[in-house]
Amino acid sequence: MNQILIGAQWGDEGKGKMIDLLAERCDIVARFQGGNNAGHTVRAKARKFVLHLIPSGILHPRKVCVIGNGVVIDPEAFFEEIEMLQKSGVSVKGRLFISNQAHLIFPYHRLMDRLKEEQASRSTKIGTTKKGIGPCYGDKAARLGIRLADLGDPAYFKERLTHVLAEKNQILRRIFGHPGLSFGKIHRQYLEYGRRLSPFIRDTALYLYEAAHRGKRILFEGAQGTLLDVDHGTYPFVTSSNASVGGAISGTGVAPTLIDQIIGVVKAYTTRVGEGPFPTQFPPKLMEAIQTKGEEFGSTTGRPRRCGWFDAVIARHAARINGLDELAVMKLDVLSGLKRIKIGIAYRYQRKTLENYPAETPILEKCRVVYEEHPGWEEDLSGIRRWKDLPRNAKRYLKRLEELVGAPIKIISVGSEREETIFL
Ligand code: GDP
Ligand code: IMO
Ligand code: MG
Repeated sequence: MNQILIGAQWGDEGKGKMIDLLAERCDIVARFQGGNNAGHTVRAKARKFVLHLIPSGILHPRKVCVIGNGVVIDPEAFFEEIEMLQKSGVSVKGRLFISNQAHLIFPYHRLMDRLKEEQASRSTKIGTTKKGIGPCYGDKAARLGIRLADLGDPAYFKERLTHVLAEKNQILRRIFGHPGLSFGKIHRQYLEYGRRLSPFIRDTALYLYEAAHRGKRILFEGAQGTLLDVDHGTYPFVTSSNASVGGAISGTGVAPTLIDQIIGVVKAYTTRVGEGPFPTQFPPKLMEAIQTKGEEFGSTTGRPRRCGWFDAVIARHAARINGLDELAVMKLDVLSGLKRIKIGIAYRYQRKTLENYPAETPILEKCRVVYEEHPGWEEDLSGIRRWKDLPRNAKRYLKRLEELVGAPIKIISVGSEREETIFL
């Protein structure tokens, strides 16, 4: 059984917890897009781990983890994460592989990400994580990227870096008024990374193909979420990769015919970090209350996450784009204590009712949301393990979400720990 797990909102849905749970029943966990802009939280061994680049399956000692060709690699972040894991007694030796076709993040990517954001106006700022993700994917598409495989051939690498850095330095000087970066330092540093990375580098597409044909079960770990997908999200306020289901195919080289199940993860409400339209965003007081109760602060940047009501328009869009077979609804416990709970069911714009997600950014920014109101519940849900023990209003709320999104709920999460989960 090969499963893909996808964020069905704007990221931070709780994918880390779900991967950690599902990893028990698979052999290989594979990341397919994004980079260390992701922050996936797993609570295990009485500790909290935040994984940025390494698949969240790594905490299971016998699972193999793969970083596919669609992921962008910052070697410094990679080695820092390995060190963090080693300090906690988690060894990655012999069970962590990176695709030789994955692209590398260089210092000029991080620098340009930061300078662009700093020099942007209020309307053009994206609110990125400043990890160099967008500039790196930009170079990949522009055929100016450098891949892990390129580090293995020092003469070729030198030629590539010379060509690319010359262009970057021109842009840095002319557009950003920056003095530019030195070739020697980057060249030496990345040759050294190349040596240290070599035990991890593989043709992972071939590895996954052979593993799948030997009956190994693969779990594909999405990063970010469908509404941050560069094609299907709230463009331009998105990340630069395909965070929806297509990314799992192109980002690993595994054929779609090998996929058995696609699981979407949503929060029982909605959050978003960074800029961009967010139709169901809470008014300030409620926002603060949910931020505090849900601990809604970014796992990567520490920024407060904007919070809002569950938006069925975007979730339905995600269910369609990804062909979701089932849903995991996370953080239901956070909604306890609210008298009334709203669900955004459609948008109103220029006297029209829109039930389907509109691609036009100005509509998303200016639309009015049509809400449905449901009675809330008082009970603390964190100790509940069975559907039948949930408060009646919580069950009604979930049933309505399922109906509006168009995919069956199979998992309900009522706390950040592994055990705080209801399986249906
Ligand atoms: P990811 O990026 O999708 O992996 O999500 P993050 O790790 O960035 O953010 C999810 C946060 O919610 C983490 O701090 C989790 O520990 C926490 N979390 C996950 N599930 C639940 C839940 O059901 N209830 C509560 N209260 N917290 C949860
Ligand atoms: P996980 O995997 C939430 C957001 C940033 C910004 C936009 C572009 O933990 O769900 P980027 O640095 O990617 O160019 O930033 O995307 N973003 C995320 N938001 N969760 C994430 O990852 C995110 N990764 C990027 O905040 O708005
Ligand atoms: Mg996260």
